[in-house]
Amino acid sequence: MTMAARSDAPKRIVILGAGSAIAEEAARAWARRGPVRFALVGRQPDRLEAVAANLRVLGAEAASYAADLDTADAAALISRMAAEMGRLDIVLLAYGTLGDQQACERDPKAASQLLHTNFISAAAWCLAAASALEAQGHGSLVVIGSVAGDRGRASNFIYGAAKGGLGILLQGLAHRLTKAGARAVLIKPGFVDTPMTAHISGRGGPLWSTPARVAAVIVKVAEPASKGRAIVYAPRFWRWIMFVIRNIPERIFHKTRL
Ligand SMILES: NC(=O)c1ccc[n+]([C@@H]2O[C@H](COP(=O)([O-])OP(=O)(O)OC[C@H]3O[C@@H](n4cnc5c(N)ncnc54)[C@H](OP(=O)(O)O)[C@@H]3O)[C@@H](O)[C@H]2O)c1
Repeated sequence: MTMAARSDAPKRIVILGAGSAIAEEAARAWARRGPVRFALVGRQPDRLEAVAANLRVLGAEAASYAADLDTADAAALISRMAAEMGRLDIVLLAYGTLGDQQACERDPKAASQLLHTNFISAAAWCLAAASALEAQGHGSLVVIGSVAGDRGRASNFIYGAAKGGLGILLQGLAHRLTKAGARAVLIKPGFVDTPMTAHISGRGGPLWSTPARVAAVIVKVAEPASKGRAIVYAPRFWRWIMFVIRNIPERIFHKTRL
């Protein structure tokens, strides 16, 4: 028997990395659309409480779970949240770190940490969430990847490798979950103006997006009834940009400074 929600029941949404600017916009958009019960997970209790307070103003219920997502026991916390909420309709994995490519090239421990945060620990949360959704026969796992995962570039291939790995993982999970009536989707944003990119000069150009714009894509694809692709670019035009970038011949690509 599946645990699909009644249409008037609050949506039960878990956000892993609820302090993220993109995740906060997605949460606000969900709260504006109707009744929601949130489980907000992140490592800064004050930030979680601030996000929760804003969501309560919009009429949502929100509980905070302070945890370092790199090290917390994913299976145990997902089970606990599923038990406390009664069911999970959407799990959004939003946490990540951009890291410092050059520092990671000098120090394998830093590279390993970056890969752990963005891939190893993220994979553990994805697998735990997928098992919960599969057991329910219902729900959407939505994970924020990156266009950086589409082709290795000298400027950020360690972060890109982690995000690229998430792409394969999510494709496999989408394949697996569809048989159970649940879904998995990877969102691939391009440049987004958030605290993660605050140090990058030249922000605000035509390729830059806002957290709200990416959040709108997340909210749309997370609908359990949505039958879209397992990989979704945000905004959509990145699909075509990355198609071109993936297909630039190496002899030309290696002369670029991308
Ligand atoms: N901004 C972009 O241009 C862009 C483009 C493509 C993809 N993305 C992806 O979008 C997602 C959201 O990023 P954002 O742009 O919204 O940046 P953000 O506002 O800086 O959010 C990143 C969040 O991840 C959290 N986090 C990192 N490591 C964590 C850990 N070990 N445990 C718990 N929380 C942790 C951070 O918490 P703390 O504050 O505690 O560090 C922060 O709340 C990330 O996965 C990122 O890779 C961003």
